[in-house]
Amino acid sequence: MAVRTIQWKNNRVIMLDQRLLPAREIYRKYRDYTGVAQAIRDMVIRGAPAIGVAAAMGVALGALWVRGKNFDREIERIFGTLQKTRPTAVNLFWALERMRRVYSEHRSQGIDAVKRRLKDEALKIYEEDIAANRELGKIGARFVRNASRVLTHCNAGALATAGYGTALGVVRAMKETGRNVEVLVNETRPFLQGARLTAWELGKDKIPVTLLTDNMVGYVMQKGKVDAVIVGADRIAANGDVANKIGTYGIAVLAERHHIPFYVAAPTSSIDLNCPSGSEIPIEQRNPREVSHIFNRAIAPRGVRIVNPAFDITQHELISAIITEKGVITPPFQHNIRNYVHHQ
Ligand code: MRU
Repeated sequence: MAVRTIQWKNNRVIMLDQRLLPAREIYRKYRDYTGVAQAIRDMVIRGAPAIGVAAAMGVALGALWVRGKNFDREIERIFGTLQKTRPTAVNLFWALERMRRVYSEHRSQGIDAVKRRLKDEALKIYEEDIAANRELGKIGARFVRNASRVLTHCNAGALATAGYGTALGVVRAMKETGRNVEVLVNETRPFLQGARLTAWELGKDKIPVTLLTDNMVGYVMQKGKVDAVIVGADRIAANGDVANKIGTYGIAVLAERHHIPFYVAAPTSSIDLNCPSGSEIPIEQRNPREVSHIFNRAIAPRGVRIVNPAFDITQHELISAIITEKGVITPPFQHNIRNYVHHQ
């Protein structure tokens, strides 16, 4: 796909501003980590793996500008700021942890050496994410054999990763192997990632896509129009519970009711063995204005009480399989998931 979600170029981080899609394709250039942190918070860039890559590049970028005397204190400030941007996607903390390890291991070699190492590591995280998505796409396409009508939620595509995508990576791999595949996508209120981003990036790749509002899922399943559900993940707990975009849980319940397989496609960097179950995963609560307003226009009476959780938890019992770059994890997840993650 021609679109570049995030790039490192001439010691700058460049991101496609996803808030403006599909109307405008504007690339923003960041020269400091505070801008990168703000971009993550404001959802210029979003999607778990992409957030991880952005945070890693943010550290590398921040380090470039730090001068000798207060180096260690400044680096701590950079880590601290990036850590506080968004709480749910574990890829953010996973990437920062990798950057911290590189920092500790190479600090003794001097400031210039450590700056170089941090940049190399951020680029490695970027490259590895694309490779993992391609691999999980291939594995997923082989595994999800009899499905051609795939329902997805939110955006787990190239825009949510360094490239290629997770759930949409599986779809792309299906297409690349000559299969007929079409996607149904929910608009994904309140931020509209499905309508604005998934429909847009699939259109660019000429993959047939049909847009639904979030409350139409039961209808299309009842009509027999869905062969499989494939979604991404922001964090996968040790027992296989999955945090993903708000609304995912309801889709999983409907899928079970209609005997439709429900798959999660995610790199192993989304697995958090330190969370025993979904109830320990922190759920981001976002600004109520995202619910009360659409494109700056009020759609609810002023002062009405509003909830705006950005994610929900789908319990592992509702998940048929988790597709990763290391293979497909099948139930019992509590037991099987550990064979796929060695680094925690
Ligand atoms: O709030 P967002 O847009 O960052 O949420 C994104 C999702 O929930 C995605 O499904 C998830 O991060 C997986 S992306 C490969």
